[in-house]
Amino acid sequence: MSMDGRTCVITGSARGIGRGIAEYLGEEGANVVINYRSSEGAAHDAVDAIESAGGSAVTAQADVSDRDAVEHMREVCLKAFGPADVLVNNAGITADHQFTEMTRADWDRVMDVNLGGMFNCTQTFYDDIWNAEEGRLINISSVVGKQGNFGQANYAAAKSGMFGFTRTIALELAQGGSTANCVAPGFTATDMVETVPEHVLERIISSVPLERLAEVEDIAAVVRFLASEDSSYVTGEVIDVNGGMDL
Ligand code: NAI
Repeated sequence: MSMDGRTCVITGSARGIGRGIAEYLGEEGANVVINYRSSEGAAHDAVDAIESAGGSAVTAQADVSDRDAVEHMREVCLKAFGPADVLVNNAGITADHQFTEMTRADWDRVMDVNLGGMFNCTQTFYDDIWNAEEGRLINISSVVGKQGNFGQANYAAAKSGMFGFTRTIALELAQGGSTANCVAPGFTATDMVETVPEHVLERIISSVPLERLAEVEDIAAVVRFLASEDSSYVTGEVIDVNGGMDL
């Protein structure tokens, strides 16, 4: 499942799930673009980790909700490695409130990053992925996009919006031989769930047949498969990686 010489752009990859994906792809021989918004130090740590495993990586600062910044990220990618073969739209945020307390600003912020960022990055890298030999678009959604979650109307709407987007782009990219898929992780042990109160986490874990949170590596392994040539005939899918939460 070698990724030798394939250029992979992973948004929000200085930490968490994105970092795990970056390291897995880097270890397989990919050239990795580590995108970050503000955590420059962590982004450089990610590059160091990939380089010490024998891979190649560069950092690219960009807020994915800013189209000009995303265009600049593509320039960084072109200069370092050439056009992208794989784009992983991973950057995401939450702004949780029960709906009656949710402001329009909470809604807009989550839409701007989770959906707007996916739009900006996909459109900016679209021609690269189209022209690549078996290009890959991989969007990181969430179990919350399927099931909903108390206090996350904005995030759930954004994450289920990714499903329709992915299926549509899969149809459009198919004519060029490239694929688009979604991964829907269950609750994963990263900074994002650190804000979840302990008693709520315990309730979540008790609803998971495999009786644990996902680790970053559980998600990265599935993305690695979708990024590889082994997934050539898989497109427009949502792959659940949630320990059986919907069984
Ligand atoms: P995280 O909060 O640890 O990492 C998210 C990364 O995205 C951070 O590095 C952050 O700086 C970056 N980011 C945020 N806004 C950005 C922007 N505007 N531009 C560029 N980068 C930006 O979160 P985690 O857990 O690693 O999440 C990664 C993805 O997985 C997200 O899309 C999240 O919604 C999704 N997810 C996470 C789950 C979890 O339980 N942790 C479960 C299901 C999905």
